[in-house]
Amino acid sequence: MKIAILGGTGDQGLGIAIRFVQAGENVIIGSRKAEKAEKAVEEIKELLKEKNLDNIEGLSNEDAAKKGDILILTVPITAQKPTLESVKEFVNGKIFVDATVPLQSNLGGTPMTYFIPWEGSAAEETEAILKGNGAKIVSAFNNISSSSLMNFNEKVDCDCLISGDDADSKKIVSELIEKIPGIECIDAGPLEQARTVERITSLLIGLNIRYKTHYGGLRITGLKQK
Ligand SMILES: NC(=O)c1ccc[n+]([C@@H]2O[C@H](COP(=O)([O-])OP(=O)(O)OC[C@H]3O[C@@H](n4cnc5c(N)ncnc54)[C@H](OP(=O)(O)O)[C@@H]3O)[C@@H](O)[C@H]2O)c1
Repeated sequence: MKIAILGGTGDQGLGIAIRFVQAGENVIIGSRKAEKAEKAVEEIKELLKEKNLDNIEGLSNEDAAKKGDILILTVPITAQKPTLESVKEFVNGKIFVDATVPLQSNLGGTPMTYFIPWEGSAAEETEAILKGNGAKIVSAFNNISSSSLMNFNEKVDCDCLISGDDADSKKIVSELIEKIPGIECIDAGPLEQARTVERITSLLIGLNIRYKTHYGGLRITGLKQK
């Protein structure tokens, strides 16, 4: 199974890529420019000190979407629509994980505030754009900071809330994400719950600033017998 990360050259995409590579998964970094994706792959090999890694490659977003079985979107919200439009012909039958969060900076106020997209959440925006293209949309990774993911010698001390309307897709995505040490996945319910989950990111950013850290995350307690 190949995991293609669209916009995988940025902070969140690199963090997710590095963790899945460490878990032995086959990863494709996608970018608007294939050369930039290839450079990101070299960067990951240097960071992991493994020049001969053969489970990661860099491609254009379109080729990554074509080749990937599970697609993950990690672009700024302003790039969501154009990126989706550029790959939508390749998503049929695939799981499409939306990790984007609609955040905007607010001059003189909270550093990053949530804004409500037309469809209610970024994940539902993705669903509306890909509607009719046969992708199964899952929302995940929204509350996990790139700093925690990039701190790849340590466990990620966070839960990952998973929203989506297709139970099988959520199960597949959860099992995959739980290969990242420390992360526990929680089924947050239907895709509509992304409206709440995405908002928590804004809260977490504020908490991380106030507590002068980059690793603050979310843990839900009492759901499972551990
Ligand atoms: N960073 C975090 O800690 C974090 C945590 C949770 C959720 N998220 C969410 O994850 C998403 C990605 O965050 P990030 O911090 O990784 O973002 P980023 O580093 O600013 O951007 C990620 C990638 O998106 C592509 N991109 C940028 N502008 C674009 C444009 N105008 N059109 C098309 N592609 C563009 C770029 O890839 P190419 O130039 O290679 O195409 C870039 O490397 C965001 O929606 C964010 O809210 C981030």
